[in-house]
Amino acid sequence: MTDSLTVRDNRTGAEYEIPITDGTIKAADLGQIKLNDDTPGIATYDPGFVNTASCRSSVTFIDGEKGILEYRGYPIEQLAEKSNFLEVAYLLVHGELPTKEQYDHWVHHITYHTFVHENVKAFMQGFRYDAHPMGMLMASVGALSTFYPEAANISDPDNRQIQIIRMIAKMPTLGAWAFRHAQGKPYVYPDNDLSYAENFMSMLFKMSEVKYDPDPRIAKALDTLFILHADHEQNCSTNAVRSVGSSQVDPYSAVSAGIGALFGPLHGGANEAVLKMLRRIGNKSEIPAFIEGVKNGNERLMGFGHRVYKNYDPRAKIIKKACDDVFEVTGVNPLLEVAQELEKIALEDEYFVKRKLYPNVDFYSGLIYEALEFPPEMFTVLFAIGRTPGWLAQWQELIEDKEQKIARPKQIYTGDRQLTFVPAEERWA
Ligand SMILES: CC(C)(COP(=O)(O)OP(=O)(O)OC[C@H]1O[C@@H](n2cnc3c(N)ncnc32)[C@H](O)[C@@H]1OP(=O)(O)O)[C@@H](O)C(=O)NCCC(=O)NCCS
Repeated sequence: MTDSLTVRDNRTGAEYEIPITDGTIKAADLGQIKLNDDTPGIATYDPGFVNTASCRSSVTFIDGEKGILEYRGYPIEQLAEKSNFLEVAYLLVHGELPTKEQYDHWVHHITYHTFVHENVKAFMQGFRYDAHPMGMLMASVGALSTFYPEAANISDPDNRQIQIIRMIAKMPTLGAWAFRHAQGKPYVYPDNDLSYAENFMSMLFKMSEVKYDPDPRIAKALDTLFILHADHEQNCSTNAVRSVGSSQVDPYSAVSAGIGALFGPLHGGANEAVLKMLRRIGNKSEIPAFIEGVKNGNERLMGFGHRVYKNYDPRAKIIKKACDDVFEVTGVNPLLEVAQELEKIALEDEYFVKRKLYPNVDFYSGLIYEALEFPPEMFTVLFAIGRTPGWLAQWQELIEDKEQKIARPKQIYTGDRQLTFVPAEERWA
């Protein structure tokens, strides 16, 4: 067996042999296939990159058919159960698990970089009273590039490390302040005695008490949710971080672009759509009619189906379990019953079975966030905090990858050519 592809161009009768490496061919190799020397070679057309690998990556592995998700080779189930978010962040960024010394050093640094410059606070306070927290997060992360101009020196690995630590450390501060802003409440400074998730809760919820006392079960659930969202290979926002980062801009600007991508409803917004759907269904007796609507094509079962997973999304299983812990503290979200019954019916129904439609990460996460009294606009902010180490691990991989170039896709031009320009005064005469 030869690892190559023989391509016959039926326009010319010419044959070409193109090497296959890792199940891919190099798109540039198709460039040699030409009608004649005066015409450009063949290119591929792939809107949305549905069948194009843009990089080599050793960060995250997904097998959508089998429902497998691994960070740096470790199954998500084991990390969610036995690790914590900062250890997972270290794993993603450094490629391997930390020693005790490395872990302590990492946690210490992230904990002590949680504060932001007072001018960042003033900047955030300048937003309108009803500003969307995701817009505030995107802008304030972008603004950090002006506070750390040395971040532009991306070729220095030590410099990259400090910016990575700063960004993971400050993201909860910015996210919590965006939340407080919408409520007209004073911003709460970080409490470095607390863990990552506990400190986030303190900045979100602390009022007049001297010290916020977080419920460990809620902190654990939030930490788990951050782990589940920490990376997902070349998704839309990660691709945005890589694409913008490929211009060699500083990482704050690149991550700010990733936050912009995540803001879009097709990426980060599905859990809110699940809540709206569950509320509309209202109670269990309405489910059969709703399912009929889905089968007739009048409805879509939000939180089901995935571009990559054609099996149970492994993250959905873990979130389902986290629901129990959260509801033990907050009381059960009445929509949970509807969600569970909906899942049960859908998983047995021929329509969903045939199309391999299973619950995805968003099916249960909105229920938890709602029980924690987060408004829907905060859901993507929580996603962004969790995804930050993944974006940064991927950004760093991009910077170190000698094969990478500035992202600059081709196009198929469909417009006019060679028109003659008539000046405005003549056209309008
Ligand atoms: C995620 C999603 C966009 C993936 O889409 P995709 O990979 O392009 O899959 P398709 O839209 O081609 O779906 C394949 C088939 O399943 C059906 N389908 C997919 N998701 C469905 C859903 N949630 N409810 C009902 N039918 C669904 C499609 O109608 C299609 O049926 P057909 O073959 O009869 O036309 C899609 O499953 C979806 O819209 N899910 C709901 C939104 C959601 O939860 N998004 C969060 C993703 S993390």
